[in-house]
Amino acid sequence: MTHLLTGATGFVGAAMALELLDRTPDDLRCLVRGPDAAAATLRLHNALSHAARLYDRADLIPAIAGRTRAVAGDVTEPGCGVDPSALPPVTAVWHAAASLRFEDRYAAEIHTMNVVGAGNVVDLAKALGGPPLNHVSTAYVAGARTGTVTETVADPAVRTHNHYERTKIEGELIVARSGLDWRILRPSIVIGHSRTLAVTSYSGMYGFLSALLVFRRTVERNFGHLLRFKAIPLIADPDAPLDFVPVDLVARDSVTVGLHGPSETVYHLTNPAAPFVGGAIAELFESTGLRPPRYVTGDGQFTSMDRKLDDAVEFYSSYLAYAKTFDRANTDAAAAAAVVRTDAEFPMPPGTVRRFADWYLELIRADGRVSAPARQLFAYRTGRR
Ligand SMILES: NC(=O)c1ccc[n+]([C@@H]2O[C@H](COP(=O)([O-])OP(=O)(O)OC[C@H]3O[C@@H](n4cnc5c(N)ncnc54)[C@H](OP(=O)(O)O)[C@@H]3O)[C@@H](O)[C@H]2O)c1
Repeated sequence: MTHLLTGATGFVGAAMALELLDRTPDDLRCLVRGPDAAAATLRLHNALSHAARLYDRADLIPAIAGRTRAVAGDVTEPGCGVDPSALPPVTAVWHAAASLRFEDRYAAEIHTMNVVGAGNVVDLAKALGGPPLNHVSTAYVAGARTGTVTETVADPAVRTHNHYERTKIEGELIVARSGLDWRILRPSIVIGHSRTLAVTSYSGMYGFLSALLVFRRTVERNFGHLLRFKAIPLIADPDAPLDFVPVDLVARDSVTVGLHGPSETVYHLTNPAAPFVGGAIAELFESTGLRPPRYVTGDGQFTSMDRKLDDAVEFYSSYLAYAKTFDRANTDAAAAAAVVRTDAEFPMPPGTVRRFADWYLELIRADGRVSAPARQLFAYRTGRR
């Protein structure tokens, strides 16, 4: 059997590809940007081998070489720029490619990737005869909602905070109306590997850490060591859960629900034992040399310095200020029916968030620049190491 994946050179997609290699005897064809299949395959193999080593799964490298190949394509092109007749029969399509940008200046690009791209993947799946489509979305299509979020297709009326959340809602709606056998897979905030702590991404929690570092360095340039004494206000609810979930748990749940779960179903790939904002944020602030913040509910009293931090972390408001938990009934039922190892929870006692943060900050320290992880990521994805 052959699975077709998008986004397999990325953080979540690579982990899903490794999980499929581990748990099935199947082949993987991965849609990868590149001038031709050979160049795209080289880049794919680099990315997957890099992730396998980081996750202590170098034993999968022969399977990567033997059972994965790239097809050159681009989800922003009609039909993803792929000739369907050049592919073998496809058992399932797994769509993880997306833009995780959120800033206004990238609005058109984000829309093209996450909305037009979802439509192009649907069209490609139809041209391939309509295999099931496992579409990776985000639990934060819930936007500003609070309380328990159920596993139902995103509500277009929900208040969102940025283009990313909005386009992920639209992507879900396209998939749910496609007429294909779809599943929507919704990770929360994906962090590094549960055992090795390693990560190949600089978004989510890692983007937040980078924003804190840039903020601290900017303030130090202008005001010296003021931040050693001053707690900056942060608009957040310290008692809200902060749903960090390790990438290997997301991959395991994805493959479980993608292979065994009923279709036309939404699945939360979240962590019921996630920490709370108060403790987790204190650890993230401390890891970057900042005092834990002072929690506030609005920006009325903000100084210009406070506003700088607020601007830098605005993207994360859905995580921080709107207390919600994600129902996992569908995911847990699929795991139970498939009799898959069910340690769905990843408890994060005090100090755990700090360990994940330190792994990432070490990458930055090794290079001296905040953009180091982004460059390293680019280097291995392009094969220019
Ligand atoms: N990371 C998280 O915390 C998180 C949380 C919830 C949901 N998600 C969802 O998980 C999915 C994957 O996210 P991620 O963190 O793995 O992102 P990522 O590391 O940035 O990976 C994005 C992937 O998409 C590919 N891609 C980008 N533009 C493309 C295009 N035009 N055509 C084909 N492929 C393209 C990238 O390929 P290149 O190598 O060519 O750049 C890469 O493989 C997304 O749907 C995201 O919304 C992520």
